[in-house]
Amino acid sequence: MNLRIACGTAHRALASSVSSALGADTLVGEVERFPDGELRPIMPGVRGDDVFVVQPTGPPVNDHLVELLLLIDACRRAGAGRVTAVVPYFGYARQDRRNRDGQAIGARVVAAAIASAGADRLVVIDPHTVVLEAMFAIPVETLTAVSAIADTLLPAVTPDAVVVAPDLGAVKLAERYASLLGLSVVIVRKTRMNGTTVRAEELVGQVDGRPAIVVDDMISSGATIEAAVRLLLDNGARPDVVVAATHGLFVGEAVERLAKLPLRRLVVTDSLSGVESHALPVEVTSIAPLLATAIGRLHGDEPIDELLGGA
Ligand code: R5P
Repeated sequence: MNLRIACGTAHRALASSVSSALGADTLVGEVERFPDGELRPIMPGVRGDDVFVVQPTGPPVNDHLVELLLLIDACRRAGAGRVTAVVPYFGYARQDRRNRDGQAIGARVVAAAIASAGADRLVVIDPHTVVLEAMFAIPVETLTAVSAIADTLLPAVTPDAVVVAPDLGAVKLAERYASLLGLSVVIVRKTRMNGTTVRAEELVGQVDGRPAIVVDDMISSGATIEAAVRLLLDNGARPDVVVAATHGLFVGEAVERLAKLPLRRLVVTDSLSGVESHALPVEVTSIAPLLATAIGRLHGDEPIDELLGGA
C-alpha cells in the first residue's frame, strides 16, 4: 500500500509539515460547504492506499469533527486500503464521564462515530483522558508531546524550579515532565465551577521563592492556568512562571487572562492551527516530527513504543 497524508481544512500547515518530513505529498481534500452549512468533502485517488487523515478537532469543534467523519467515509468509499484518523487534539475528550444526571458522555459518542465512519485506527496526542483508548473498539495510538516540550524547556530550567500540576488530573503529566527535567512536583487542588470558571483551592508542596513550571494537557479558556498561577504567587512562588501545555486553544478570554500574568515563557505545540497568531508571546514546539515518525513506523508496521504516552 502507498503511504498518503491527507487533510481537510482543520490544519493544512501541520499536514504539510508531516508530509515534508516523510518526503510525501499532501493530499488536500476539497471541502465544499453548502449554503445551509452542510459540508461535502471529496477525497479521490486513494484506492488501495494507506491513508492518514490529519485533522485535529479544535474550534470550531463540531465542524472539524463532522468534516473528519466525512473525510474518513470519503476515503473508505474511494477504496482506500487502510484509513488512520490522525487527530492530534481530540475534541470532546473532556466528556469522559457524567458529572450529573442527564449529561451525555461526549467522548464515547465521538469514538463510536469515528469508528463507524470507517477509520481502522486513531492516532492522538496527549488526550485529556486516558480512558479515551478504552472507548474505541479500533486500535488507538496515544502519542505524547511531553518529551518534545521538555526539550524546549530544558535549557532555561534551574534546579530550584518545581513542576506544577494545576489540577489532580494533570498529576501524571506533571510527573513525566518532572522526571525528564529532574525536578519535583507540586499539586494544585482545583474545583471547576463551570466551563470558564475554576477555583484553585489548595497547594500541596512548597513553592516559596522558587520558579514554577505549570504543565497541562490543554489551555482552553485559561481559567485553570490563571487560578493556578495566582495561587502559586499567593504562596510565594517567584513571579516568573513558565507555562507549558500540549494543546493551546486560547478561547474566550484566555488571551486577556494569560496576558495579565507574570509569565516568563508560554510553550504550546502546533497541534492546533493558528496557535502563534494569538496576541501572546507563545513559543511553539512542533509535533510534526513526532507525527511523521509515528506515521512512518505505523505504515511500515514497526513498533512505536517510545513515542507513546497518555494523559
Ligand atoms: C481539565 O481538567 C484540563 O486538563 C485543563 O486543565 C482544562 O481543560 C483547561 O481548560 P481552561 O483553560 O478552560 O481552564
